[in-house]
Amino acid sequence: MNDRPTHRPVSLPPTRARDAKGAPLPATSTTAAADTTGAHPAPMADDASGTHAAPTEPHGPRGPAAPSDASESEPRRSSGARPRPEPDAPTLGTSSVTAPSLGTSPLADPSLAAPSLAAPSLAAPSLPDPSLAAPSPPRTYADFRATLGSEEARPTVRVAPRLPMGARGLMSLLFHGELATEVIEVSLRSGLFARLDEAAARGGWVELGELADELAFVPERLLKLLDALEAMLFVERLDPRGDEPLTLTRYRSVEPLGPAAAQVVGRDSIERDRRAQPWAALHGRLHEVLRGAEGIPAEDFAWPPATPAQVARFARSMAAGVPPIAESFRAAAGALFDDLDRSGPIRVLDVGGGNGTLASALVAIDPRLRVDVYELPELEPLAQDTFARSAHAARLGFRAGDAFLQPLPEGYDVILFVRILHDVPAAQARALLAKAHEALRPGGKVIVCEELRSPERAAIQFFWSYFLVGVDSCQSRLREWSRYDEWLRALGFEDVSLVPGPFDLGHATK
Ligand SMILES: C[S@@+](CC[C@H](N)C(=O)[O-])C[C@H]1O[C@@H](n2cnc3c(N)ncnc32)[C@H](O)[C@@H]1O
Repeated sequence: MNDRPTHRPVSLPPTRARDAKGAPLPATSTTAAADTTGAHPAPMADDASGTHAAPTEPHGPRGPAAPSDASESEPRRSSGARPRPEPDAPTLGTSSVTAPSLGTSPLADPSLAAPSLAAPSLAAPSLPDPSLAAPSPPRTYADFRATLGSEEARPTVRVAPRLPMGARGLMSLLFHGELATEVIEVSLRSGLFARLDEAAARGGWVELGELADELAFVPERLLKLLDALEAMLFVERLDPRGDEPLTLTRYRSVEPLGPAAAQVVGRDSIERDRRAQPWAALHGRLHEVLRGAEGIPAEDFAWPPATPAQVARFARSMAAGVPPIAESFRAAAGALFDDLDRSGPIRVLDVGGGNGTLASALVAIDPRLRVDVYELPELEPLAQDTFARSAHAARLGFRAGDAFLQPLPEGYDVILFVRILHDVPAAQARALLAKAHEALRPGGKVIVCEELRSPERAAIQFFWSYFLVGVDSCQSRLREWSRYDEWLRALGFEDVSLVPGPFDLGHATK
């Protein structure tokens, strides 16, 4: 099992809270951002909708490395193209995210080496007797696999995907994807979805003739649009006796379509934002990219982000994806926080909380919450900037630290992991949850909001999987909720449950 951190080791100052101007506070205190109410005339919107110009989140929380550290600890790649393996470099290897075994050679830092492959050769360069030197690392996957013990090679998690329809049916529908999107857009903008939703909400139906009148559509043409919606399983239908007249055909949505469509095709949709990603570099060239010839150019997408500009861009892109997460917290606030049994404020630590966009949204959603972002120090100015725009800045704080290298700070009622566990190896994800268990008071809660492997998230999984084919330095590990559930129970958490929403929210009590 590979249990080393997947972010680059960063030489960090001790965890230290800072005041609103960035001056260090005593180590035990937390930075409450100055209450700038009034000083900043444009407080952040409650729904946390900030800029949407930036691309949204990739599957991955790799920590931005300190800029000064970047050149020392990791060989930089000049482009996103997959480097060709050096003659002696191991070809395939571990589940490492930084993936030095994918051919970046020589390995500058032994701590980055894949243990089962590169470590032997790095450990023995100065042995006097050549016969004692470590063997050359294996070069093919078959060689590599032969080095694994039977335990390591044994699968332990059953993965059983099921198609919601036949393979041909799904492929055929996907082939018509752009047409389907137009059908959805027109149905949303014309008000058709709203009428179908309204009929379903009152437990009734709406007739084709009524719809055509209200929307000023030709009835026979609208019927075909509704047939298309039915083919996508969005509406159900009651035919008139004997099929005629067609205008008496009744319809309703099978679930609320308007809100779903607004999220997917609306102006601020994550899907729309994704179109701004530099994925186009792969489009039509996937075969060549898979063979390692090309990839996403580093200037288009640097991973992990290293320079201040890259860190800021990545933080903005994560922030663009926060609104549906905030919405999930808003809907689940009662289930998450009501049983915490606190007379005072509920103290929340948002581990890997980025530029504080979610933290800002949370304090706006629930007046009981005080939220500290726990992040790498590079993120502090960005978070302070976000806090300064919040109308609730006095309930926001920042704690600098490294969640992978240090224990999590104590004194919190709730510890959040939002989009930080899903692409680190299992041992690391589990270790973070264990740190949360250690840090929480009895009765405290951990909340897990990750990209899960689930049918509802299939499109998101699809997009990032496609994009990341061209980014060797980033590797995602989407998991079913059942794995997190299993880990939480094994660590001693109780009342483990999942609240479904735009993002599912898992929570458990110590
Ligand atoms: C994928 S982003 C998620 C940000 C935020 N939670 C969200 O969902 O919008 C992962 C975050 O983890 C942070 N991070 C990475 N390594 C970290 C570490 N060792 N300690 C604390 N935070 C870290 C990164 O800086 C980044 O902001």
